[in-house]
Amino acid sequence: MDVNHGQESSEWFQAQSHIYKHIFNFANSMCLKCAVQLGIPDIIHNHEQPITLPELVSSLQFPPTKTTFVHRLMRLLVHSGFFAITKVHSNQGEEEEEEGYVLTTSSRLLLKDGLTSLSPFVQAMVNPALVTPWQFLGDWFRGNQLTAFETAHGVGIWEYADQNPEFNNIMNEAMASDSRMMNFVVKDCKEILGGLGSLVDVGGGTGLIAKIILETFPHIKCTVFDLPRVVANLPESENLSFVGGDMFQSIPSADAILFKCVLHNWNDEDCVKILKRCREAIPSKDDGGKVVIIDMVINGEKDEHDITKTKLVFDILMMVLVTGRERNEKEWEKLFLEAGFCHYKITPIFGLRSSIEVYP
Ligand SMILES: C[S@@+](CC[C@H](N)C(=O)[O-])C[C@H]1O[C@@H](n2cnc3c(N)ncnc32)[C@H](O)[C@@H]1O
Repeated sequence: MDVNHGQESSEWFQAQSHIYKHIFNFANSMCLKCAVQLGIPDIIHNHEQPITLPELVSSLQFPPTKTTFVHRLMRLLVHSGFFAITKVHSNQGEEEEEEGYVLTTSSRLLLKDGLTSLSPFVQAMVNPALVTPWQFLGDWFRGNQLTAFETAHGVGIWEYADQNPEFNNIMNEAMASDSRMMNFVVKDCKEILGGLGSLVDVGGGTGLIAKIILETFPHIKCTVFDLPRVVANLPESENLSFVGGDMFQSIPSADAILFKCVLHNWNDEDCVKILKRCREAIPSKDDGGKVVIIDMVINGEKDEHDITKTKLVFDILMMVLVTGRERNEKEWEKLFLEAGFCHYKITPIFGLRSSIEVYP
């Protein structure tokens, strides 16, 4: 009998390695979370020069017995590109060279006090309340709940956030940390935002994006529209106001309606309803009316393999946590046409996310 079924044994071992890599993908998330929890990026940053392993262990205030464990954690994180190793001269006058850890661009984005820090996003996304629903994915497929989150927790994520202020804060901080990435590109958004007189940021949370936009385009009258409990008692300023309401009912009028990471939370039917409310809230295209969506556009042919992988993982995340999805261009276009819009323009300027301008 040919136990190899006609394939080289190396192919079977490659397949085993492939399966093991995927089984233990969670170890990558957990090690990243651990590094953030321990403050390793900040320790390396504050050291102001490459940090050797004993220096790192001492800064972490761990006993020397933990040195080998820290080394193994760092070895994986270096391999994953979160840190790098460089040569350092040990002590003045000595010829001997040692190795020290330095930050990479990815770990610079995890510094707690950086202008833009994704640490809260890391901590939130591997929070037990968000990880548990993944254990229920199979049960959810067989059951009747709307999401695996609901299968796991008995209520949907919005209701859960309502009932758990601590979880609500963690999620708000996570989204705010993601939104701070806009700092890098807002200056390049003249074509998209520059000509607007007014803008409503729907599902704009506590207004971080509106504030970032106002720093570059102070003339735009910005309204942040979100659920009443989210925007209650937030301080307003000259061109920044907050309105509480339900986007399924009505949306305040403005030249443009912005949605960042909102429509991917909702299924197609709900998105069409929301977009129809937008259509009522904006002027004609000739008078400058448009909807600006900042979300992912899946494009397996054009994007690098890893980028598509991340977008597909986000798609499943939307399935597990909410009733939404990530969409390719055709799927977006279908929503726009159904909601009565005529044209759209995709500009891929936000990394994983694109700006999609949608015109009546
Ligand atoms: C994933 S968050 C996105 C927050 C923000 N746009 C960002 O990117 O940081 C989705 C937002 O939609 C808001 N939201 C949910 N249902 C809503 C509704 N029916 N009407 C208005 N806002 C809603 C939530 O409160 C939340 O702030």
